[in-house]
Amino acid sequence: MQIVLAPMEGVVDAPMRRLQAAVGGPDAMVTEFVRVTEHLLPPKVFHRLVPELQQERCGYGEIPLTVQLLGSNPETLGMNAVRAIELGAPAIDLNFGCPAKTVNKSMGGAIMLKRPETVFAAVKGVRDAVATEYPVSGKMRLGYEDKTLALENAKAIEEGGATYLTVHARTKVEGYKPPAHWEWIARIRESVNIPVVANGEIWTPEDYFKCREVSGCERIMIGRGLIANPFLVEQIRDPDAPRDTAVNWQRLQPHLIEFFEDVRATIEERHVHGRIKQWLTMLGWHFPQAKELFQLLRTERDAQGVEAILRDSLNT
Ligand SMILES: Cc1cc2nc3c(=O)[nH]c(=O)nc-3n(C[C@H](O)[C@H](O)[C@H](O)COP(=O)(O)O)c2cc1C
Repeated sequence: MQIVLAPMEGVVDAPMRRLQAAVGGPDAMVTEFVRVTEHLLPPKVFHRLVPELQQERCGYGEIPLTVQLLGSNPETLGMNAVRAIELGAPAIDLNFGCPAKTVNKSMGGAIMLKRPETVFAAVKGVRDAVATEYPVSGKMRLGYEDKTLALENAKAIEEGGATYLTVHARTKVEGYKPPAHWEWIARIRESVNIPVVANGEIWTPEDYFKCREVSGCERIMIGRGLIANPFLVEQIRDPDAPRDTAVNWQRLQPHLIEFFEDVRATIEERHVHGRIKQWLTMLGWHFPQAKELFQLLRTERDAQGVEAILRDSLNT
């Protein structure tokens, strides 16, 4: 069993990764994407998005943190992958799923799935540049508008030399709307000879086991489900773990304060309230208590004010 925390730009940053390691402990994590265009990026760009590179090991204890790159130029992707490895990344992942217009306009992310040869070239560019002991992987959606090229893109990632492949089981056009098509992950898994990590729409232990059954994959990546309920990994691993939201809300409180302090130390003061509200909104998908807390600080824009409300309502 292996559970991977999904990369999520603007959500799974260093404070969230630290929290996830402290609470639930996924087996591996992937950073938000680092955008690669025509240049070798300076170390400060990597350090800003992945401050963990400055630790002795890039990750949390036994949890490695893979650095994700997004781009389509095989040469600059390769150069930047080498830089990330030199800075301490244990592995490189390539993003073939980002739906953002700005990224797709410059031939990056999900749009590459329209042309499997570009996917192949990107993976090969990185695989050829990086020493063989470092894993290189690709993360794809099922396609852009439709799924007709899904198997071809998976093959392109394999033939480019990837160590494994993650499949977010939706097309770009399907966005984040349920369902995720886990049966398509099974088709892809059967068509390639590298391990496949299944991803999409896992919110409960029951979803997790169903996804494993349908996809046939042993490694599962979870995004929003883990942000909404950081105890999900624990609940998957231990059928006796508490499920009661009142109990778990209590258990989460010290972590909420720690997260606030961590965010405050990391980003500009004026952005702190937004980041806290963002997580509370997502926590509210699982915890009714988070919705109530959100209402209390909805209009507060000052970090100090947010802190006062947090501490007051959480009794810390
Ligand atoms: C806000 C947000 C940001 C995301 N950023 C990234 C990213 O930087 N790289 C990436 O490969 N996928 C990104 N994704 C996609 C997730 O990694 C994942 O594939 C998707 O959310 C489906 O998994 P889930 O249903 O468990 O959330 C992002 C998704 C969301 C909602």
